Amino acid sequence: MQLQLATWQEVDTYLERSRGVIIPIGSTEQHGPLGFIGTDAICPEVIARGVAERIDALVAPTISIGMAQHHLGFAGSISLRPSTLMAVIRDVVQSLARHGFERCYFLNGHGGNVATINAAFSEIYADASFARGGSNQPGVRCKLSNWYAAPAVKNLAAKLYGNSEGSHATPSEVSLTYFAYPDCVKSADQDPKIAPTGPILDADDYRRRFPDGRIGADSSLASIEDGKKLYDAAVIDIARDYENFINA
Ligand code: NI
Repeated sequence: MQLQLATWQEVDTYLERSRGVIIPIGSTEQHGPLGFIGTDAICPEVIARGVAERIDALVAPTISIGMAQHHLGFAGSISLRPSTLMAVIRDVVQSLARHGFERCYFLNGHGGNVATINAAFSEIYADASFARGGSNQPGVRCKLSNWYAAPAVKNLAAKLYGNSEGSHATPSEVSLTYFAYPDCVKSADQDPKIAPTGPILDADDYRRRFPDGRIGADSSLASIEDGKKLYDAAVIDIARDYENFINA
């Protein structure tokens, strides 16, 4: 079930049988000459919807703007500061907790969000820890799950792309978006074929090191067919992981 397509009464009924919710979280940032700017938000969103078709799960609206300051040297990228994103995550969780949600499963599509999401979880737990006389709210637990690091996805990406997977504008994430939006598949030249790798600092430094936006990846290997395989693998893995989390 998608939260945005449900009525409040349907959410009430869902809460009688489950206290879990999946919150896709991504980013709005360049993904090289072949990847969509929405890649990191689209991937967890389509996987979360697939999970909700497979098992009984509620999917919250995607937090589609993340911590991507290092991508601001490229047109179209939009970023929140770490502190802003932490505030967004905290308010989303507190809103859901007010209704009785106790297991918030953040399905993430952007490596640059990881540190900030974990810091936001610490803020949320600190709210409970600092409450005088204990908290009168149910115990909220949050989990971060990076779809691209799901074991089945990692294995498949390694088999399909080997060293050409890289770490940004990867053929696996681009494939998944092509599968989700086949009418939007891109065609463009890439030079060099495999992008350079290196550290990530600020936006200007990023653009100097990685002129077309990719890191270590050959996005031209992406295909709709691979996207379907990655989607199927991810949905099975993530559904299992989500069920383990909400039942723990
Ligand atoms: Ni990405």
